[in-house]
Amino acid sequence: MIRCISCGEEYEDNEIIYTCKKCDSILEVECNVEGIPRDTFESRRQNIWKYKEFLPVNPENRISLDEGGTPFCKCEKIGKELGVDLYVKVEGSNPTGSFKDRGMSVGTTKAVDLGVNMVGCASTGNTSASLSAYAARAGLKCAVLLPAGKVALGKLAQAMFHGAKVFGVDGNFDDALKTITQLALDGELYLLNSINPFRLEGQKTIGMEIVDDLGWQSPDRIILPVGNAGNISAIWKGITEFRNAGYIKDVPMMTGIQAVNSAPIANAVKKGEETVVPVENPDTIATAIRIGAPVSAVKAMNAIKESNGTADTVTDEEILDAQKYLARTEGIGVEPASAASIAGLRKLVANGEIDKGERIVCVVTGHVLKDPNVAIDACEEPTQVSSDPKAIREVIRTM
Ligand code: F0G
Repeated sequence: MIRCISCGEEYEDNEIIYTCKKCDSILEVECNVEGIPRDTFESRRQNIWKYKEFLPVNPENRISLDEGGTPFCKCEKIGKELGVDLYVKVEGSNPTGSFKDRGMSVGTTKAVDLGVNMVGCASTGNTSASLSAYAARAGLKCAVLLPAGKVALGKLAQAMFHGAKVFGVDGNFDDALKTITQLALDGELYLLNSINPFRLEGQKTIGMEIVDDLGWQSPDRIILPVGNAGNISAIWKGITEFRNAGYIKDVPMMTGIQAVNSAPIANAVKKGEETVVPVENPDTIATAIRIGAPVSAVKAMNAIKESNGTADTVTDEEILDAQKYLARTEGIGVEPASAASIAGLRKLVANGEIDKGERIVCVVTGHVLKDPNVAIDACEEPTQVSSDPKAIREVIRTM
């Protein structure tokens, strides 16, 4: 059953619908999972389909690249420095290098269930990279709209290489999303942006896996970057479904981090306002979250409120600094948007919003190789030497 999150109007699972016909609000898939003992999941393979009873598509038709089951790394050094018990969920280890694969696996499976032949999305990069790969695997035609000149190189390469028709749109992500949504409403394609509630069903497995990774316990807090706000909403849905199933009692404080000039949700939370006012010309070096009008804003605000969480902003400088810090202290390479979670953690510890000893999971959403230009620009050029070991010895002895 699909349900409107505002007026509660219900729609059949096989209706192709993205917003409520009565009130225009966004939709969610209602998952009625009851009476499944926790040990059902034991000894299953570590991927999103481990929790298939919670995924509202036909698992027999699954389009999967073995997504999910990502590394869950305890970060002793950063944790000690900040006085918290820190874990990092490394979503860059998914098949196309970001968390989007979880959603696209379920989303393209739904597309196959529905019998459509063309899928599409607008994207700041990762969604298109992922959809292009899953569409190839499913044998679906695929069109993606990208804000021209504002997509990191690795993501662009992936979208093109897996065979999607790639359009560079004059405008930002919010403009591209409006355009592709219109094409979907005209019946040209099946939309797999996160306004499609089936995609978020795949992404909710991040929350489920975190609970599983911690031995069926909730962390005190989950921190993650927020752009279009689908992921924070999805993770919260996964967590609450596990709570409703009786697997956990406590829930984490959902903590969303945005880049300072692309921060409509954090702005609303900080001002204590209920409504999210779009940002006109969003900008940040973290192009993945360069978004001014998040589609899932209402769901995200609910998640933050219900979980007693918060949202905050970080500057581009803080993002780049955190990206390097994580890479060089813990060996975890992430793209700039992902580092917003670590930058946010540092900020919230510094201003006393995070208590000492909290058990925290930072979700790092995409791989460092997604944006090679930012990584290279942050480093010294390689030192040019002859092949004579002497020249190298001189340098390494000063290290
Ligand atoms: N981190 C990365 C690496 C992303 O690619 C995105 C979103 C986010 C965080 C934010 O997640 O939108 O669910 O709040 N990328 C989308 C895309 C918009 O098109 O790839 P969100």
